[in-house]
Amino acid sequence: MTQLSRRDFLQSAATVAAVGSLAPDLYGQSDAGRENLSGPIVISSANGLPATEKAASMILEGKDTLDAVIAGVNIVEEDPNDMSVGYGGLPNEDGVVELDSCVMHGPSCGAGAVAALQNIKTPSRIAQLVMQRTDHVMIVGEGALRFARAHGFEEVNLLTDKARRVWLKWKETHSNRDDWIAPPDKPKPNAHSRADKETLDFTYGTINCCALSPNGDLSGVTTTSGLSYKIPGRVGDSPIIGAGLYVDNTVGAAGSTGRGEAVIKICGAHTVMEAMRHGKSPVDACLHALKRIVDTTTETRLLKENGRPRFDVKFYAVSKDGSFGAASIWSGAKFSVYAGGKNRHEKCAYLFERPS
Ligand code: GLY
Repeated sequence: MTQLSRRDFLQSAATVAAVGSLAPDLYGQSDAGRENLSGPIVISSANGLPATEKAASMILEGKDTLDAVIAGVNIVEEDPNDMSVGYGGLPNEDGVVELDSCVMHGPSCGAGAVAALQNIKTPSRIAQLVMQRTDHVMIVGEGALRFARAHGFEEVNLLTDKARRVWLKWKETHSNRDDWIAPPDKPKPNAHSRADKETLDFTYGTINCCALSPNGDLSGVTTTSGLSYKIPGRVGDSPIIGAGLYVDNTVGAAGSTGRGEAVIKICGAHTVMEAMRHGKSPVDACLHALKRIVDTTTETRLLKENGRPRFDVKFYAVSKDGSFGAASIWSGAKFSVYAGGKNRHEKCAYLFERPS
């Protein structure tokens, strides 16, 4: 397998730009955002359309931006049909759902996080309590569950029957070197590992949601059930301040979804934020961070034959000036945004055209 050199990457980016894939209609959001500073701007991952609507309505009622984005993502955390977040999320390799989340509150420079939290539907609310009711920033595992219990949160089995069936299918079919037997109509594949596949087929789904209020305050939240079928205790980027989320009330807010390991290694959301601080638009800042991921992904097991990543990452950003945008490594992604009084999906900018 070949690795993408810096020159190849710049050439491929230039090719993409030349065919219009990075043209302003895909950026598209900056001016729209600036026109609407009188109202809230809320940006989220594609699965966050109900979240952006809820958060915007709360900000319009005068509520705090952090309370608003948390109430927004709570809808998705509590939705059993979203298998990437909260209740109904896909479990770890043992069939246990472990949740990660972090929050940042721009006006107070506050931050809180939980990781590998079991049995609580809304980890974002526990992350907010870590910020508000402890002297810490992050609590993990059993300690996070005990902390949630102390604050009166109800414990539930987060593994829905639908998620259990998906996990069981994975368990019975992902390897032919174990004792789990697949149903006769679903024979075991020859593949033994992720490295045998062209595209990593595990789920990293997550929701990130960031908001800017009309008075210029910013907050953000990221919450997830993390990588499906992960090693128990594995923690991705979502609960890590500076990786899955970063908010600076003087600059903007940014967050990520996708392969957490790649985001952690480049301090993703913080990298987006620093690029905005130094003058890049939100979309250019997101693309800048994605390019760094491409440049720093050297493991051949993570690269296609042409040297491009076999995974995807998306960054979302809103600037203090009201501009906003999102970008992904691969084309075809969307994000959710409430701006100018309208709640909708928009296209993400991207680095590489996804092969058909
Ligand atoms: N971005 C979610 C995760 O990697 O866990």
